[in-house]
Amino acid sequence: MNRDVIIACDFKNRAETLAFLDRFTEEKPYLKIGMELFYAEGPSIVRELKSRGHKIFLDLKLHDIPNTVKSAMAVLSSLDVDMCNLHAGGTIAMMEAALEGLMRPDGTRPLLIGVTQLTSTSEERMREDLLIERPIEEVVAHYARNTKKAGLDGVVCSPLEAARVKEVCGADFLTVTPGVRFADGDIGDQSRIATPARAKELGSDFIVVGRPITRAEDPVAAYRRCVADFIG
Ligand code: C5P
Repeated sequence: MNRDVIIACDFKNRAETLAFLDRFTEEKPYLKIGMELFYAEGPSIVRELKSRGHKIFLDLKLHDIPNTVKSAMAVLSSLDVDMCNLHAGGTIAMMEAALEGLMRPDGTRPLLIGVTQLTSTSEERMREDLLIERPIEEVVAHYARNTKKAGLDGVVCSPLEAARVKEVCGADFLTVTPGVRFADGDIGDQSRIATPARAKELGSDFIVVGRPITRAEDPVAAYRRCVADFIG
């Protein structure tokens, strides 16, 4: 599996998204479409960006009863996305049902990635808000193991957890890591962060980068800096 930089297209609508993408005249970056854009524009935005030649990670983080997730995943898979995800906290049964739903008639399916703990969640918030008393590394490793047991391809986690996830689940188990910041950039609301170069050292397969690229004065230069630091 080739490492790649995925740009988080956290935009309000199609117009903003296309205005941003039109700056990229040479590259066709891998894009992440999240809830805001998908709920605003619906499946047509996925079709449009696919037809422009982008790979798509559809980040809707499904979490519901197994049967509902299975049916929803079948719909997402039919959009020809390359990667999608769910909350690993939804249980192994839910994750197995999701995989079944994703399988296309021709035997292919998008990569399916589990969210362990959001990178904005600190150990203190886990303990106080969620009543999860264990250390965050242990919780992430446990969720990752469940994800692997269910047959998923990898997890979303902080770059700081990528090495541990590989130790627990094997080198081929994918780590998709948001919480990436340049050493000289704003942290924003993220808490468990790393630079693109550090994410590479720690074994991330994909870094997901939003504001450091989308809010940069020169997004194409910021994207290229990420690619140079992460892929080399
Ligand atoms: O702007 P920023 O680089 O923080 O964007 C990170 C992206 O990754 C956002 O779209 C956010 O929703 C997503 N994400 C995350 N932490 C996770 C899963 C997804 O930050 N655990």
